[in-house]
Amino acid sequence: MFGSLLYLLAASAAFTGRGIFAPISTDSPAGIAGGEIACGAPPVSSFFVGLNPPFPTNTWWAPYAAPPGNATAAGPFPYESALYNNGVVFGISVNRQFDGTSIKQPTQTDWRASFAEHSGNFANHKATGFDTQTVTVQYFQGGATMTAYLVPGSPYMTFQYAGATPLLTSMNGAIQSFNGQTLAVGASVSATGTGFTVVDSSGSTYLIYALSSITLKATAVSAASGTIQASGAFSGVLRVVKLASASHKALLDQYYQVYPTAVTLDYSFTDTTGTLIFDWTTVGAGSNLLMLTYPHHRIKLQNPNFPATTALGYLTTKGWMYPAIGNQWNMLYDLTSIKWDPPRALDSSCSAAVLQGLEYEVGQLVPSQAPVPGDFYYWGGTLAAQARLALIADNLGRSDLVTPVINYLEASFAYWFESSSSTLPAYETTWGGVIDKAGATNVNVDFGNGYYNDHHFHYGYFLSVAAVIAKFDGNWLNQHKDYINWFARDIINPSPQDPYFPITRCRDWFAGHSWASGIANGAGSRDQESSGEAINGYYGALLWASVALSQDYVNYANLLLTTEQHGAQVYWHLYPQEDPAGRDNPYPEAAVRALTTMGNVEDWQSGAWLFWGAEKSEIAAIQILPVTPVNEVLYDTQWVENVWSYTMPELVDPTIGDEWKCVIIDAYSNANPQVAAEWSANITDWGTGQTFTNELFFIGTRPNPSGTPICGSLPQNPYGNFKIQLASNGNYVAASSVNTNLVASATSSSAAATFNSAYVPNSGTLMLVSTSQYVTADISGDYALAAIRGTASTWERFTIRQKVGASSGVYSIKATSNGLYVTVGSDGSLINNGANEAASAGFKFVSA
Ligand SMILES: *[C@@H]1O[C@H](CO)[C@@H](O)[C@H](O)[C@H]1NC(C)=O
Ligand SMILES: *[C@@H]1O[C@H](CO)[C@@H](O)[C@H](O)[C@H]1NC(C)=O
Repeated sequence: MFGSLLYLLAASAAFTGRGIFAPISTDSPAGIAGGEIACGAPPVSSFFVGLNPPFPTNTWWAPYAAPPGNATAAGPFPYESALYNNGVVFGISVNRQFDGTSIKQPTQTDWRASFAEHSGNFANHKATGFDTQTVTVQYFQGGATMTAYLVPGSPYMTFQYAGATPLLTSMNGAIQSFNGQTLAVGASVSATGTGFTVVDSSGSTYLIYALSSITLKATAVSAASGTIQASGAFSGVLRVVKLASASHKALLDQYYQVYPTAVTLDYSFTDTTGTLIFDWTTVGAGSNLLMLTYPHHRIKLQNPNFPATTALGYLTTKGWMYPAIGNQWNMLYDLTSIKWDPPRALDSSCSAAVLQGLEYEVGQLVPSQAPVPGDFYYWGGTLAAQARLALIADNLGRSDLVTPVINYLEASFAYWFESSSSTLPAYETTWGGVIDKAGATNVNVDFGNGYYNDHHFHYGYFLSVAAVIAKFDGNWLNQHKDYINWFARDIINPSPQDPYFPITRCRDWFAGHSWASGIANGAGSRDQESSGEAINGYYGALLWASVALSQDYVNYANLLLTTEQHGAQVYWHLYPQEDPAGRDNPYPEAAVRALTTMGNVEDWQSGAWLFWGAEKSEIAAIQILPVTPVNEVLYDTQWVENVWSYTMPELVDPTIGDEWKCVIIDAYSNANPQVAAEWSANITDWGTGQTFTNELFFIGTRPNPSGTPICGSLPQNPYGNFKIQLASNGNYVAASSVNTNLVASATSSSAAATFNSAYVPNSGTLMLVSTSQYVTADISGDYALAAIRGTASTWERFTIRQKVGASSGVYSIKATSNGLYVTVGSDGSLINNGANEAASAGFKFVSA
């Protein structure tokens, strides 16, 4: 008695939660600013007949439901499949290719499963049920049915017939032999029993298992096709499986009798871990369920029952699928404890520079100039970067700098609540979700948001911004919590009880990561090309849950975050160091792993490419950004060192944008913060999704085992009022309201112009004091610098540094506009056309 009580206490301390969580809320989003709207591509009505939305949009089987309803689905792996008018087609690609950029296994259709009575009417198939991973599809004709249990990870395709005559049609060549008997074209052969073997003319072998005895007749219809048809109506189960190697038959023979029909997703939590649980519903003894694992499963599975990898295996674009026995998988993950702040204080060597940048960047945020949203994606990325400034200010004890950021964020966020706004969120009624209203019937708006593309990317930013506001403004939270929850429910609803949103829209629980693709283009192939923003989707949800929801949703968001990071590390990060023969190496080919990072992971191919860019630094950066403290785990040392050397030719190339370099430098700081700090001083443009402050704050809060100060002495422009003197001949730079060009023509200090040199992070501006006009440098590098701008933007920024090799106090000047150095022409004009530091003229800055 006493003992079991202790056990119960221990158990309740260990398990803070177990089971499917309740809905975040069940209230209707109809009151959202854009009201309700219908997507231009609603689900195929015959497919969901008898079922009501919400429906999954980004799942592997979205092509079954998205019009026209017959595109190739991303599974159930190891198979890919499609629902045709006349049956379920499926196959396993054996054509693995590497073209130097991508690993590809083009979809292959081996067989079609149907029954003889089916009319071929497209409307005569429907979904009868689905869960977080599986879907059950029924083909029907009168009283005859074939029910397909489409379960990712099952080596067998499972078809249950009721009063129907099973019919399998070969789609990849003629039938060459059936149960060992060779068939000439036109010939037939019959066999009765529970196990059959068929070989087609492409050389592929399939096994057909019947759970009760059946008579099948194979007919070599033509040189291109063949059929296997039962002798009559059958009520029972067939399991069809590709035999990739003769040595696999023993295991397949042993376990075919137990089949999965559905799966329950479950999870349990301790303070530091989350266990993801797959619990398959089976017919037959669950302990004898034979399934296939991906590498990420094998890495995390607890107490697995793995047969030898030689017993069964299929090579997919995610590496080898190998067998596991049993109907419950428990995958254990270490959850992060990082939320708003990094897990250590800012290195004191970086404090002054970070604070100076913070004051500057917060000073730029004028609430009356807060952006009016013009889209979801760029608005979110930009505002989330500004929101980090409030968190950094708070971390550094500068509450005076928090409030201005919050005011700015609130001013911009307010547009999402107004029905008069030009960009509006609306509730989409045919699938069930919040979309960009303007994109409801136009897939080209906002990266296809209206067709359910990229919601976790977009709403992760929304939730980050909202969470930061809510952290510092409880009234705002109270006022807008239900509204913001509509965005949270759109991407992390955990429950089938939410009447408005599908479960965790983007996550493919079996694949171990999310898909960005929604239902556009028939939901064709699935892809995700920004693992960084996918992770951020769940990070935004974690922050929101931390401030607005209960611990259950904090745990759930943390599990999503942690698993997405792990998926990125297994399938996006490439490690040339990995053992080519390693069981859990998803890319056995060394040449693939030499590419260091995947750009896009799809269902049938993965490659170092992007839809929008080809540079190495872009491909790597989109897997890194946005930089937040929670990515301490993601930026693992081996990978960031690989990325550092792989992208180095671009990191020193002035034609490659700083906005990509800056995030690579940040990721690298996780391995070497001192070097990253030095390199970060080269950056003068952080793009819209990053700030100077966040860049250096991240670097300054890295693990630092050596204890060496991280920031050292970071170079700065000389700031103050100066006359600028050309070192070579002693002439001073002149400029005036009449002659606005900068020309080194003044032979005396009294004839020289006075410039105010002011701080901008890592660089500065030069203002002609007599006219209050900023000096600008044309991007062409063909014209003299001129003091002609009333306000300073990026073309009015210069990096002024001690010139290498020159005597102390002689500086080079680099223009931010084109990354080129300032030289002096024969007429004395200052022109930003010097290719490198050595080409720069030397200038002295004489205090004025
Ligand atoms: C898919 O459906 C469309 C529209 O009904 C049809 O035109 C097309 O032929 C179908 N494709 C296949 C492979 O069945
Ligand atoms: C950036 O900074 C590092 C270290 O200070 C330097 O070695 C490197 O050459 C710089 N790269 C460019 C492109 O300026």
